[in-house]
Amino acid sequence: MANIILLGPPGAGKGTQAKRLVDARGMVQLSTGDMLREAKTSGTDMGRRVAEVMERGQLVTDDIVIGLIGEKIAKGSRGGFIFDGFPRTLPQADALGDLLAAKGQGLDAVIEMQVDDAALVARITGRSTCGNCGAVYHDVTHPPKIAGVCDACGSHDLRRRADDNEDALKTRLMEYYKKTSPLIGYYYAKGQLSAVDGLADVETVATAIASVLDKA
Ligand code: AP5
Repeated sequence: MANIILLGPPGAGKGTQAKRLVDARGMVQLSTGDMLREAKTSGTDMGRRVAEVMERGQLVTDDIVIGLIGEKIAKGSRGGFIFDGFPRTLPQADALGDLLAAKGQGLDAVIEMQVDDAALVARITGRSTCGNCGAVYHDVTHPPKIAGVCDACGSHDLRRRADDNEDALKTRLMEYYKKTSPLIGYYYAKGQLSAVDGLADVETVATAIASVLDKA
């Protein structure tokens, strides 16, 4: 069992690799982005406020995401957790350490996925996601076999995210460099950080992550 963080800017490939680890290793993916998108559809005031913040590309407040993650950690996971998009600030990182310690656990690896900004724009503006099963596609690098139909579940509900446009992406990148990138130093100082080349193809990135996990 291993608990790991996939750390990287928007479009680095965190979700793509997390889904592969779920299939390959029986780990549980905890994506705060997915949880917040679910909360958006709840029709509550909180859901509407979260939707506005996300569509602008800004970060949602720490207390909301820490609360969501705390509920999931409390349920436990036999294969370990993949933290995808969490933590994103230093207070979130401290809270994660405390939540895991309360269960007698810790982090086994923090994997930084390095991708340059130009590639991120191309990845984000070409992405679509299946509204039924969450499979992720890209118009150029990974299109579905039949246009508009999900390979995994056959659904015709392939969607673009509301924040996947160049304007929101600029804000998302600024938020990443200002508030999330300090976590690279935070985990380096704890001896937990490993970097992988996120510009490589999906298989090569998966092999690099597997090799970090096998040594953890
Ligand atoms: P979130 O949903 O976490 O989005 P993100 O971090 O911006 O990351 P993405 O999901 O956009 O990208 P990814 O790295 O998963 O890439 P993917 O695998 O899809 O967060 C959204 C918003 O929610 C935030 O802006 C914020 O408002 C809020 N939020 C979430 N968590 C929060 C927190 N902890 N605190 C506060 N607010 C929070 O890949 C992208 C594309 O590239 C795909 O098309 C894919 O097919 C393609 N691709 C992937 N890998 C490769 C490869 N190796 N080669 C070529 N193409 C590839």
